[in-house]
Amino acid sequence: MEDRMQIAIDGPASAGKSTVAKLVAKKLGYVYCDTGAMYRSVTLLVLRRGVAPDDAAAVTALLPEVHIEFKPSADGQLTLLNGEDITLAIRQEDVTNNASAVAAIPAVRTELTNQQREIAAKGNIVMDGRDIGTTVLPHAELKVFMVASVEERARRRFLDNKEKGIDVSVETLEKEIAARDYKDSHRETSPLKQADDAVRLDTTPMSIDEVVDSIIKLYEARQ
Ligand code: DC
Repeated sequence: MEDRMQIAIDGPASAGKSTVAKLVAKKLGYVYCDTGAMYRSVTLLVLRRGVAPDDAAAVTALLPEVHIEFKPSADGQLTLLNGEDITLAIRQEDVTNNASAVAAIPAVRTELTNQQREIAAKGNIVMDGRDIGTTVLPHAELKVFMVASVEERARRRFLDNKEKGIDVSVETLEKEIAARDYKDSHRETSPLKQADDAVRLDTTPMSIDEVVDSIIKLYEARQ
């Protein structure tokens, strides 16, 4: 049990956490758990059922119906909700914009935190999110808090979107990112906050490879 390694990567929206966490996991042969995808999965179900994302009682009532799995595939890791592949559906703008409200509901956080700990108990893991180092895996061997300026994050999202054929201006993306930062850091339950023992990494001037290399170096220094 005790020899399981846990790497927690937290930080604000669009700081590149999942891209980096995925690559770090691949290099180390660890399992990767994208906790944002789990909050997005609940949000998708909420929207499909026509429930208001800030109606805590109605959202909580849906939780017993939520079964999320991650499945490896040739195209990367798939997210399944009750057996359905929702990998692409959870990246839609309406899911992105409503996930903060759903993630602020305490019962949602309790349920997903339990599921995340169960996933982590199975083996070596790289987990990314907002509260991994502070709440989900407080004893993780390595905690990284990734940040980048709002402008740089909007620029990265814009380039990502362009590849996917999505047309949203950089100005709109900056506003959306700032709004999500505010909501994620001001909610009462497990707000986005750097753990005292996390290493802060400002990735504004760094390439993806540079970020991955620095995390691997930090990890090796802890071995
Ligand atoms: O990282 P992401 O954009 O996929 O996250 C989607 C939403 O879920 C975002 O609003 C923040 C929230 N979230 C959270 O509250 N706690 C986590 N551990 C991960 C994500």
